[in-house]
Parts: sequence; C-alpha cells; structure tokens
Amino acid sequence: MNKYNQNLLSLYVHWPYCESKCPYCDFNSHVNEKIEVDDWIKSYKNQLLAMKEELIQNNINFRHLDTLFFGGGTPSLMPLKIVESIIDTSKKIFGFKKDIEITLEANPSSYETKKFVKFEQLGINRISIGAQSLNNKYLGFLGRLHNIKDVKIALNDASKIFENISVDLIYAFHDQKIHDWTNELESFLNTYNLQHLSLYQLTIEEGTKFFKDHKNGFIKLIDNDKAAEFYNISNIVLNDFGFIKYEVSNYAKKGFKCKHNLNYWNSENWIGVGPGAYGRLWSSNKNLNRIEYQNYKNPKTWLSKNLLQPEFEKITKLNTNISDIDTLTMGLRLYEGLDVSKINDLSIINFKSLEELKKRDILSFKDDVLKVNKKYMIKLNSILDYLINHWI
Ligand SMILES: C[S@@+](CC[C@H](N)C(=O)[O-])C[C@H]1O[C@@H](n2cnc3c(N)ncnc32)[C@H](O)[C@@H]1O
Ligand code: SF4
Repeated sequence: MNKYNQNLLSLYVHWPYCESKCPYCDFNSHVNEKIEVDDWIKSYKNQLLAMKEELIQNNINFRHLDTLFFGGGTPSLMPLKIVESIIDTSKKIFGFKKDIEITLEANPSSYETKKFVKFEQLGINRISIGAQSLNNKYLGFLGRLHNIKDVKIALNDASKIFENISVDLIYAFHDQKIHDWTNELESFLNTYNLQHLSLYQLTIEEGTKFFKDHKNGFIKLIDNDKAAEFYNISNIVLNDFGFIKYEVSNYAKKGFKCKHNLNYWNSENWIGVGPGAYGRLWSSNKNLNRIEYQNYKNPKTWLSKNLLQPEFEKITKLNTNISDIDTLTMGLRLYEGLDVSKINDLSIINFKSLEELKKRDILSFKDDVLKVNKKYMIKLNSILDYLINHWI
C-alpha cells in the first residue's frame, strides 16, 4: 500500500484551438473555429463542480489549489471572458493557496501579446512562451506562423509584465550545427532575463505530418550520439547562465521550478478540465487507489456532453501495477529522484537490474530515494525498461 500522503492539488485547463496545426504536434489541438463563449464557460463550470464532488466522495485531503495551468492548444487565444470565469469559478469552488502558481501558455504573435496585461490582471503569474526556435529557418521548418522578431516582441512585452517567464524551445535538428545552437542560445540568454526554460529534442509522433514525411524519407533525425552531444552541451550552457536542471527537459533559476509540472512528476492529485484533459486522484476510500478521469477529446463532443451536466468519457480505477509504473516513470524524470515509499508494491522493480545499474553508477538508491545519475538522464527510457522489464 502507498504510504505517501499526496495532499497537493493542481488544476489543468485544456484549450484545444490553435491558429494552425504544426506538422510535428500530436497534442489535442485543432484549427480555430467559431465558438459560443457562454457554452464553453458553462461546460468548464460543470466539470469543475463535478470534480469538487469527486474530491469529497474520495475523501481527498487537500487545502485549496496549489497550481492552475492553462495549456493547449493555444490558450493565449482563449477569449478573456472564459479565462476570467475559470479563474473565478475555481477560486470559489476550491479556494486558492496564497502562493498559487497560475500559468498560461502563449504563442508569440502580436495579437496574443496585447492580452498579456489583461492576463496578469486576471491573476496569471507565470507565462510560458512557445518560441520553439531561435532561428527563422527552423521556425519555418516547424511550420510556425511567427518569426524571431515576434519572439523578441513577445519577450520584451512579457518582461514588463511577468516576473516568472518560461520559454519552450525545440532543438537537435538533423542539419543543425552544435556551435550555431549554442551561439543562439547564449545570445538569447544574454538578452532576456528568463526564469525557466523547457528544451525538447524534436520527436516524431505517430499521426503527425512529420511522421509521414519521416516515413517517406523527407525528414531525417539526428543519431543518438549527436543527440546526446546536443543534450550535454545545452546543460553546460544553461548551467553557466544560472539555470538548475531539475528534470529531463526542464531548467529553472533558483525558486522557479514549475510547481504544476512537479505535481505531475511527484504523482500528486490533479484535476483536468476541457477537451481531452485528464485528471488523477488518490482515493483514500479505497486503500489509496488511483482514479483517472478522462475527458472527451473532440472539442464539439466535449462541449455537447458537458453543457447541461458534467460527463467524463471514462473513469478508471488504475490497478496497483499501472499506478506504480507511472509513479516510477514520472518520479525518475526528476534530478532529485523518487521517494520509493510512493510505490505500493516494490516488486515492479527488478532487483537484479537495480543492482547492476547501481554497480555501473547509472542509478543510486539511498535513504529510500532512487535517482538516475545526471549524465544518464538522456537514456531514461532504456533505463526504465531495464529496471522494470530487464531488457534494453
Ligand atoms: C502543448 S505544446 C505547446 C503550446 C503552444 N501551443 C505552443 O506551440 O507554443 C507544449 C510544448 O511541447 C513541445 N513539443 C510539442 N511537440 C513536440 C515534438 N514533436 N518534439 C519536441 N517538442 C515538442 C513544444 O516545445 C511545445 O511548446
Ligand atoms: S505546437 Fe502548439 S501551436 Fe502548434 S499545433 Fe501544437 S499546440 Fe498548436
């Protein structure tokens, strides 16, 4: 049985629309369409009320929301009336911790930048800007509608308004030169005072345009050794600029780790509202089993199902095995490692593999904390396979 007392609570709000669909993206995102603002407000509200009921039914021990995250899609395209209503309603229903972190993902186009002031007035205190590249050639390749000039405008405006700014970047393209990337990164970090960075190496996701292009030989990926080189050099550059790497792809200045994502990686409780969003709660009624709430993915279906009364597509009681593998997989992403008392049944770990990984200094296991050695973080998926299934 899980002996760990998860008592933090996060709320994820999904906005499913974007100006266009990027060829690499497999998120639940759809090209903008005309919507009825009041219908969306009603559906989000119904879901928030339903989740409050679930928290009570499952005896969840929490005091107010710790974090709220508007993700997407492109939530900076959300009508302000909807953002305002979600913030007001969730504050009324759950209450906000005094130091609540409220993040909103924004795309760097001028239309959305004008809304920054209003977002801040509504209570958003962390902005995550999807710059994606520091190079116009790669922005074009990624199918983005913005260019470097737009990134600069967005960051200049954001800097005047927010004290907590994060930027998302994709890197390690097939023809990218390491010194070009590090030069761009250094000059960027010299210009802007950022608190957080998420650096993702390009992945090819099934169902995307890039997946087809890759299959047909139009897109090449860099090999694993070069990817590792990009990864290690990025760590060095960011370290020089005072960023602490705290997760596989995430870096923060002191005091600015993303609290919301930490709650996912630490397997705390979270609620998910909006199309395709899911939430997970630990029910103290049923021997601390985990329950997953899955929303309808298609925006129109979600809207029609939630307009009159709340409805989830699926509510699943996760079995111990699935829940434990998830806790292990998420927890090992963190540089500070995982407290294994969060795992119900430690037999999911193959102890022979664990000994071998310890012997090779790939993993450490001390005072109940299991940790991947920083230098092997890029091989996390293979390490997990070996640890759980005993094969790589
Ligand atoms: C929900 S998405 C983006 C939010 C926002 N709409 C945007 O595009 O800026 C979160 C992040 O995942 C990253 N991402 C999405 N697909 C990716 C892929 N195939 N490879 C690497 N990173 C990816 C991007 O950096 C993106 O900003
Ligand atoms: S990457 Fe962002 S902007 Fe592009 S389709 Fe995905 S969610 Fe939308």
